[in-house]
Amino acid sequence: MIPPGFLQDLLSRVDIVDVVGRHVELKRGGANLMGLCPFHAEKSPSFSVSPSKQFYHCFGCGASGDAIRFLTEHLGLSFVEAVRDLAQGVGLQVPEEQVSDEERERRNTLRERRKTLGEVLAQAADFYRAQLKASPRAVQYLKQRGLTGAIAARFGLGYAPPGWKTLAGVFPRYDDPALEEAGLVRQRDADSSGDDAAAAGGSSDRGRYDWFRERVMFPIRGVAGEVIGFGGRVLDDSKPKYINSPETPVFSKGRELYGLFEARQALRDKGYALVVEGYMDVVALAQAGFANAVATLGTACTADHVQKLFRFTDAVVFSFDGDSAGRRAAGRALEAALPHATDLRSVRFLFLPPEHDPDSYVRELGRAAFEDQVTRAVPLSRQLIEHAADGADLQSAEGRARLLAQARPLWALLPDGALKRQLLPELARSGGLTVEDLAALWGQSAVGSRPPPAAPGRPPLARRGLAPGRRAPAAVADLALRLLLRHSDWWEQLGAEDQQMLHELGGTHGLAVAWLEQQCVELGPQTWATLANAMADQPWADEAMGWMRSALADEEQTRADLQRVLHRLWRARLEAEVQGLISASRPDRDTLDRIAALNEQIRRHRAGETSGAVAT
Ligand code: UTP
Ligand code: MN
Repeated sequence: MIPPGFLQDLLSRVDIVDVVGRHVELKRGGANLMGLCPFHAEKSPSFSVSPSKQFYHCFGCGASGDAIRFLTEHLGLSFVEAVRDLAQGVGLQVPEEQVSDEERERRNTLRERRKTLGEVLAQAADFYRAQLKASPRAVQYLKQRGLTGAIAARFGLGYAPPGWKTLAGVFPRYDDPALEEAGLVRQRDADSSGDDAAAAGGSSDRGRYDWFRERVMFPIRGVAGEVIGFGGRVLDDSKPKYINSPETPVFSKGRELYGLFEARQALRDKGYALVVEGYMDVVALAQAGFANAVATLGTACTADHVQKLFRFTDAVVFSFDGDSAGRRAAGRALEAALPHATDLRSVRFLFLPPEHDPDSYVRELGRAAFEDQVTRAVPLSRQLIEHAADGADLQSAEGRARLLAQARPLWALLPDGALKRQLLPELARSGGLTVEDLAALWGQSAVGSRPPPAAPGRPPLARRGLAPGRRAPAAVADLALRLLLRHSDWWEQLGAEDQQMLHELGGTHGLAVAWLEQQCVELGPQTWATLANAMADQPWADEAMGWMRSALADEEQTRADLQRVLHRLWRARLEAEVQGLISASRPDRDTLDRIAALNEQIRRHRAGETSGAVAT
């Protein structure tokens, strides 16, 4: 749609430092600028912007990209919107796309409609808010539910008075189609009203009435704080308890979260988002000190919801009522969250006692008790297994097979990474299979369906299979692990690149590396005897003991020996990459250059394999 030449031109004129600097406070740090990452919650800056490369990169969460990407990720703009925005800033005209007159007309109309709807909704929100102050009964209702005026103001709560046509006194034209489109008024009898209106001389407000009447009003806001819809609650026990705005060009229940705008600061401060089910839960939690709560709008949690949340935080805690409806909702949330559960993110599930929702729980038992529930929330991996075990009798072979059958589509949704790989042996254990059997059963196609996220500054690795050491000669990987488990103090002496390469060995080797690193981080280097003990409950422990047993008496035992092994592993990996490039159709100029560079590295590592020197 947008010519590539124009993009180049645009990016050469835009300065990413200006673009990012409008949203993130940046300070000079050497050649780059540093700031607090807008893509995950953090307290010390790991977000860097490079003026020379015109690129941002976060060392904490791995987010990176150019100016366009920043706008699409941070502000949620579409690609085209981001390009327009940047072009406007540097005085460039985006070349008119080749769209039909009809299409252009359609887009203009949509933009106009959105603008009108926004204005109408904002005006209605102001009115409802003012009405709340004028209604002692509504104020009393909110007070009795434990809310202060400050919280009501924070969420812009309002009150829709009882009359059938109150909004006629608010808007200049009660028959304005925008009122109906915004979901604020309804037409009593849609079929006959048109004729009636014509007969009555054009005024069609006859069968019209206010949709929200005698209800506490919860304005729903978009990410920029604009009102996009409402939820309204009755003040007594009548039904329906809540009514909501319909889907409109500015409001979609499957994408919007109630309270997200209000929660933004708290998401940073608390470091996680609490996802609950009701309007009142969000407001009551904010009142109780959990301003990081958001709610789905009476619908199941969707992958869009989760994706949106992960723009503001890297940890999400779903809260559900402990009843069967809550469990079903948790199942859907699990499915929505799995595709977004990368290794740097955390997703957990909290189940309240059946008689409670978060509002009643926090009001009855207090902030500390709820905080405690959050701490004890179940991690995604456990929830996945529990969900898959639903209806499966694990005492029988049939039941275990059922668990695996139910787990497979869930597991397949996870992006490739350490979490996904660690789950495989766990699932195998629950299902009564060896990890090899399970991998064979699910087939290579189920494995590594997406390339792993690229490590900073390095090209992404090609896809990897599950078989241990498929890329590196298994015996060499065994040897590397043997040395590291015997001399865990060497782990910390390794460079980040070497550590990353070891993590990427895959299979059991990769799992053992991840485990070893965790041990070193948490407890520092330990003797092999201690590690062997701690390792016993790992699903891969037997295999690892096999590596240790195969040690020869005269085996290498020095730091230089480990270095030689690392060179050997690097060489295997680079050679595999060269293989991949060569077997891809006809290599172009860039590919040939890349192969030459790889061959040079291979040569260096080969030399290192005999000297044991650290590669430069
Ligand atoms: P709940 O009935 O759990 O609502 O429904 P709640 O927030 O706890 O309400 P209170 O505490 O009784 O005031 C959860 C959500 O489901 C939607 C609303 O979004 C509500 O917040 N819902 C519920 C409706 O849309 N309509 C209804 O009639 C009921
Ligand atoms: Mn409730």
